[in-house]
Amino acid sequence: MNSRVKKDNVLQKLILPVYGKGLWSTLYGFLALEADAKTIAGITFYQQGETPGLGGEITNPRWQQQWQGKQAFDSSGKVIITVIKGEVNLNASESRYQVDGLAGATLTSRGVNNLVRFWLGRYGFGPFLNKLRSESND
Ligand SMILES: Cc1cc2nc3c(=O)[nH]c(=O)nc-3n(C[C@H](O)[C@H](O)[C@H](O)COP(=O)(O)O)c2cc1C
Repeated sequence: MNSRVKKDNVLQKLILPVYGKGLWSTLYGFLALEADAKTIAGITFYQQGETPGLGGEITNPRWQQQWQGKQAFDSSGKVIITVIKGEVNLNASESRYQVDGLAGATLTSRGVNNLVRFWLGRYGFGPFLNKLRSESND
């Protein structure tokens, strides 16, 4: 199930429940998309058991903040958002769809990368999001 946030009956945001394995635990959170169904509005994790200061930094608002405005899909609709190892070069065009990995927590970061890409993909919300995008282009 997913949630569509509407105002005056106009779609504002899509809230997608997501989960997947980190290093020590299953990470549970929400990924929000803008009404275009391709721009990331935000990510949060409400339950996880990673190491505080390492993988646990996925709950740090500063780290979560950089997801806002990132592109989830390329122009063909393929999932493109990626958590990289290290810091994103904000001068590079790839920065539109890249997120910093957490220092000292590559395994947790990889878990987040995998779960986000899974849930946006064809076995997750991909077909639903594709349909929304094609409807809004009518
Ligand atoms: C006690 C302890 C706890 C750790 N907790 C995490 C963790 O929560 N997430 C994580 O990715 N790596 C954790 N690591 C580190 C991993 O073993 C691994 O070294 C790290 O993910 C590699 O990331 P890096 O390439 O950024 O250094 C922990 C290591 C130790 C010794």
